[in-house]
Amino acid sequence: MMALLQVRDLTKSFPGVRALDGVDLHIAAGEVLAVVGENGAGKSTLMKIVAGVEAPDGGEILFHGRPVRFNSVREALAAGIVLIHQELNLAESLSVADNVFLGREITRGGRLGWLNRRAMTEQARALLARIGVTVPASTPVSDLPIGQRQLVEIARALGQSARLIIMDEPTSSLSQHETQTLFGVIGDLKRAGVAVLYISHRLAEVRAIADRVTVLRDGRNAGELAREQISHDAIVRLMVGRDVQQYFTRQHAAEAAHAPRFEVRGIRYAGGPAESASLAIRPGEIVGLAGLVGAGRTELAEALVGLRNVVAGEIRIDGVPIRIRSPRDALRCGLLLVPEDRRLHGLFLEESVRGNIGLPNLDRLSTAQFVRPGAETALARTWVDRLHIKTARIGQTVGLLSGGNQQKVVFGKWLARKPRVLILDEPTRGVDIGARSEIYGLIDRLAADGLAVLMISSDLEEILGISDRVLVMHEGRIAGEVPRDRLNEEAVMQLATAEGEPCDA
Ligand SMILES: Nc1ncnc2c1ncn2[C@@H]1O[C@H](COP(=O)(O)OP(=O)(O)OP(=O)(O)O)[C@@H](O)[C@H]1O
Ligand SMILES: [Mg+2]
Repeated sequence: MMALLQVRDLTKSFPGVRALDGVDLHIAAGEVLAVVGENGAGKSTLMKIVAGVEAPDGGEILFHGRPVRFNSVREALAAGIVLIHQELNLAESLSVADNVFLGREITRGGRLGWLNRRAMTEQARALLARIGVTVPASTPVSDLPIGQRQLVEIARALGQSARLIIMDEPTSSLSQHETQTLFGVIGDLKRAGVAVLYISHRLAEVRAIADRVTVLRDGRNAGELAREQISHDAIVRLMVGRDVQQYFTRQHAAEAAHAPRFEVRGIRYAGGPAESASLAIRPGEIVGLAGLVGAGRTELAEALVGLRNVVAGEIRIDGVPIRIRSPRDALRCGLLLVPEDRRLHGLFLEESVRGNIGLPNLDRLSTAQFVRPGAETALARTWVDRLHIKTARIGQTVGLLSGGNQQKVVFGKWLARKPRVLILDEPTRGVDIGARSEIYGLIDRLAADGLAVLMISSDLEEILGISDRVLVMHEGRIAGEVPRDRLNEEAVMQLATAEGEPCDA
């Protein structure tokens, strides 16, 4: 079969990094090719070049057998190639419908005519329905949680009638159900002869949908697996060159005797349900917070750290009631949220790795008004080493790191702060499997040191692997709790979808 897309000997360097070093890749019409590799392996760079976002330094790209060189996204799009970005790329102030049609608005009477809002809204609704989004097309994107934004981005791509769709970690903030819907759409695309390049760190997904897997390591081809050769172990071996333990298992069990370190008593908050929420976490305990995307987990977390107005109830740390009106107050009390959307809350993208890790720790690093530069560098270096953050240098601008490495910087920045209560919102979103087990190990050790941890995750394997018990949210409220000895996928899913017995714990 002739390849639809053929990439030969592609190279690309950035200052201090060889992102791609002679990469080959090919994909046929109707094929799903998964591209996997550790954080910083060069996956996104490769895809950006194919989609005309970046120019290569060398090498060749053939599309329909003819050499092409796209100087812009528009040119790639005109040829039939569309990229769904890893870091979402929506205009936040515009509506869902406007985003779906951004750059190719429907008009009445030629290119410069009036916008045909009705047609756009109707078509947007149809595209959104295809991937299971039910919010009104007029909703501003800024009002949507991150999973829904990801679906809007996918809907936009589906509307472009592309021959090749590149999905760069499309499911990192989708629920299992949404992921299944997306897989259905990918099946339809396949049957329609569309080629799909699929990047994911979730190897179960790769096993489920890929016809073939290409593995990148340090900017080079590390190997390829045909459909019948695809297995978790085979992929991981090519990715990291060694065997990695598949699931993390907790080393330290919480001691039941302790009084709660973190206690939430009957709080109600802006944007939350009428019913109040309560929970308690002992020192050393890791409590998972599960639920479908949109179940209100992030909202609850935001209320706990002062990002939402709390209208009733009480929060206590080590038995002492605390007043939290802002994340700064929370921080002062030793309560930290590592947010889900690093681009929005977690990072100063223009700042260096050193500055980002040092910033929340300024008080510890400064004498009088001055930050001791040596201390800041030492702190940053410690966390870059501990988390294996792949960066050319400690002074590198964070926005230029690969997605997963940005996530690790967010982590380093907050963990360096030594909190008493840690709330993690999707801590391993976009993080590769090797780094993931490092992060789990780290959370585990922090808990062993007496921290109380509340971990929001849509990754059930992760929730089951690391939690001492799991709270499950459904439609804004805590629908129930699954204790350690009954912890399994079914118990969590039942509560999340409200199929289980209501629990009055
Ligand atoms: N614009 C840029 N300037 C400098 N360095 C860059 C730039 N874009 C990417 N890099 C570097 O190139 C390397 C490859 O990055 P890339 O984003 O392609 O990795 P990735 O495989 O997509 O990783 P992830 O799984 O974390 O998303 C990384 O070391 C990254 O820091
Ligand atoms: Mg990437």
